[in-house]
Amino acid sequence: MKKSKFVLLILVAVIFYACNQSKNKEMVKKEILGTHQGKEVYLLTLTNTAGNVIKLTNFGAKINFIEVPDKNGKKENVTFGYDTFEKILAGDKYFGSVVGRYANRIANAKFTIDSVEYNTPKNDGSNTLHGGPNGWHSVVWTTEVLEGAVAAVKFSYISPDMEEGFPGTVNAEVIYTWTDENEIIMGYKCTTDKNTVVNVTNHAYFNLKGAGNGDILDHEVVLKASAFTPVDSVMIPTGEIRPVAGTPFDFTTPHRIGERIAENYDQLILGLGYDHNYVLDNTEDVDVTVYEPSSGRVLEVITNEPGMQFYTGNFLNGSETGHGGIVYNYRSGFCLESGHYPDSPNHPEFPTTILNPGEVYETTTIYRFSVR
Ligand code: GAL
Repeated sequence: MKKSKFVLLILVAVIFYACNQSKNKEMVKKEILGTHQGKEVYLLTLTNTAGNVIKLTNFGAKINFIEVPDKNGKKENVTFGYDTFEKILAGDKYFGSVVGRYANRIANAKFTIDSVEYNTPKNDGSNTLHGGPNGWHSVVWTTEVLEGAVAAVKFSYISPDMEEGFPGTVNAEVIYTWTDENEIIMGYKCTTDKNTVVNVTNHAYFNLKGAGNGDILDHEVVLKASAFTPVDSVMIPTGEIRPVAGTPFDFTTPHRIGERIAENYDQLILGLGYDHNYVLDNTEDVDVTVYEPSSGRVLEVITNEPGMQFYTGNFLNGSETGHGGIVYNYRSGFCLESGHYPDSPNHPEFPTTILNPGEVYETTTIYRFSVR
């Protein structure tokens, strides 16, 4: 190769690299929000080629903001979050959070692995909820903006042995990708150095009318699950796998959230509404579709997990004030938390949540936004 041609090739490569770098910088903006636990907390703004924006923070690896258009092109934020780090710290722990090491409840805050009993914190009556009070929603994750053609951020966290009572050092990561098709792809990966339990989810609240625009009772849901796991009076699965057919829990065909929520049905009474794990059929490409008629917005959720906690914001009470002073009232948001079933460590008949050394916990869940 002639020297001049070689120089030209290098020049082209350098320009190509520089262009991609600046493209990536445009796609992901990183700002310092504050410091916590001696670490910097960032706000990451991800913009796709459609010009739609999501915001993340490495505190709790949270989704803070999702702005997508309605059927007329009007953009609104459809998730719950706060404007400042002070408010994030003082506010609801779970808005948009990654929840771990064990999402949902563990009965009586204990479980046994290899004949050893482990005790976790009681932060929900006598049970453990969402990995304990100092779970993964409350720690500062390491942030890496990923290079590439699509906006993506990797958060990683080393969860120490016996953190919140759980055995084993767990290396956890979640990669958020914000695609040009308005999909948030969440890829979770964990490894451990001792036998432990792992069940990770995201706890974003959604209101497809736009967060703060009333309740979610008019949202229409299709949930591809033929059964769910009924709970007792403290929200622990009884072990029963109950078919949804003929019950207000049947969303295999479209139903509005509010249509049957007030029915005199044992599980709606115990759950104060819908707050249950669905046993996904896992036969369809899309596991859940939620459609909001006035805005035309659609949220599809796709996961390779066996379960989906459908929670209709029954504990929201207007005490939280988020973005721009919005008040999060009773049932003004719903969550679709993919994962394994609640209290699986105490239910050997449920799909296992045990993670052993040498194994890799790897799951993917997608929130896809569109209009109809
Ligand atoms: C959900 C859970 C609810 C409630 C909520 C947090 O995942 O199903 O019962 O605890 O988190 O307020």
